[in-house]
Amino acid sequence: MAKQKIMFFDTTLRDGEQSPGASMNVEKKARIARQLEKLGVDVIEAGFPIASPGDFQAVKEISGIIEKSEVCALARSLPKDIQSAAKAVEGAKKPRIHVFLATSPIHMQFKLCKSKGEVVKQAVDSVKLARQYCNNVEFSPEDASRTEKEFLFDIIERAIDAGASTINIPDTVGYAMPAEYGALIRKVRERVPNIENAVISCHCHNDLGLAVANSLEAVKNGARQVECTINGIGERAGNAALEEIVMALQTRKDFFQEFEHSINTREIINSSRMVSELSGLFVQRNKAIVGKNAFAHSAGIHQDGLIKKKSTYEIISPQEIGLEETELVLGKHSGKHAIKNRLESFGIKITEQEAEAIFPKFKAMADEKKEVSNEELLALAKGIKSLI
Ligand code: KIV
Ligand code: ZN
Repeated sequence: MAKQKIMFFDTTLRDGEQSPGASMNVEKKARIARQLEKLGVDVIEAGFPIASPGDFQAVKEISGIIEKSEVCALARSLPKDIQSAAKAVEGAKKPRIHVFLATSPIHMQFKLCKSKGEVVKQAVDSVKLARQYCNNVEFSPEDASRTEKEFLFDIIERAIDAGASTINIPDTVGYAMPAEYGALIRKVRERVPNIENAVISCHCHNDLGLAVANSLEAVKNGARQVECTINGIGERAGNAALEEIVMALQTRKDFFQEFEHSINTREIINSSRMVSELSGLFVQRNKAIVGKNAFAHSAGIHQDGLIKKKSTYEIISPQEIGLEETELVLGKHSGKHAIKNRLESFGIKITEQEAEAIFPKFKAMADEKKEVSNEELLALAKGIKSLI
């Protein structure tokens, strides 16, 4: 059976850049856009052109340099936003305009101060206007996961009739549970009569730590585009992390066997490091896939298992994401086997007796320090007479 393609829509430069303290200049954004293209993302959401002259310039610049990925600009459902987005992406090889408008009762009543009828009209007019500039238009009913279902299905149907070819279902405040969000995607598929004319997209925020789980559940239930960011950066607790979603699809091919994607996973670590460096947002050590500890093992039992067979404690090989190798951290939890192994990597073969002699010294040093470096281990080994 032919596989179904999951499109990766990267919003590092738009939703990601909305993280407090992450704003970047045009040059930095252009560097990241080039790396995203190398990574193989299908769509780069390059910015929100009406937000500032710098944002407009960044989207325009990126539109001029990107060859293969689509370049998308965000717009509120307002003519001035749509015109600005259209102008910013006009030079792109594959432009897209992303129009959004809130549809949940709480947003319509308190933020927009508009009735349902007014919101539907504004959404339809906006999609139609965007289509006058670009034939690739995405519509997002903002706060979709807290929107009344019947109203959501109705506005989606009208947005598709007005010309939207992607319908995004944002979990704007990260409120949905995975089963609930999956069911919502399934219902959109079942209940919107013209849904066959559009791609369903998911867009999940991480306020409850569920953004990746929700995105994967969406894929299982019919979403064919995933909106995400590198390192999961984004508003508040962030967006779904691209690297986690793609490595889940990749590592659990048995579970996601009907899908394929075009991400070059070997560019993940380069992308992560570049985004961290240029945005100034550091990646926590224990972050899945790209954290410093993600491929580091310190427990003696684990190190022993890994030396015997990598798959005992590693479900992803570090090379798959572009790292050189697994790191066995030498510390107080390490055993003799790990020490012998590390010395062997420097061409020093030690006997059982020599290992017995080094081990107490190593443990004493490890108790003092968090990590014993290669140099320190070599110095300990040199202190054992027979090795000199
Ligand atoms: O989270 C959200 O609802 C958004 C929209 C603009 C798609 O980022
Ligand atoms: Zn968002």
